[in-house]
Amino acid sequence: MSDLTRFGVSLEKALLEEFDRALKEQNYSTRSKAIGDLIRQSLAERRWKKGKASAGAITLVYNHHKKELLNKLISIQHDYHNLIISSQHVHLDHDQCLEIIAVKGNPGELESLYLKLKSEKGVGYASLTSAMAGKIK
Ligand code: NI
Repeated sequence: MSDLTRFGVSLEKALLEEFDRALKEQNYSTRSKAIGDLIRQSLAERRWKKGKASAGAITLVYNHHKKELLNKLISIQHDYHNLIISSQHVHLDHDQCLEIIAVKGNPGELESLYLKLKSEKGVGYASLTSAMAGKIK
């Protein structure tokens, strides 16, 4: 962290108290760190929506016993290989697999990859998380 700037914030008392309780639950040591994280998250979402953000993670949970599902998921990932940085497969239990796919590229294309994976029959959970890519100016 460099070039720190201090600024004053006025908030309703009840809102600040609730915020402080939430910080405690999340083990934040300072309000500054928590507010910084909120701002980064908000900027990342804005960039994502504007089509400027370009990195994130797709998380899938699926039953690998479902016929042909594994092959379909792999085939879709090969169709979009240029967007995929890496993937991690975790065998959650006898039936369920967790897959975390790190992605980078055009947000519209990332969304399309996500929707294809998500819509396969047997995928029980799917999420696409956007992350900050590039510097904040
Ligand atoms: Ni597995």
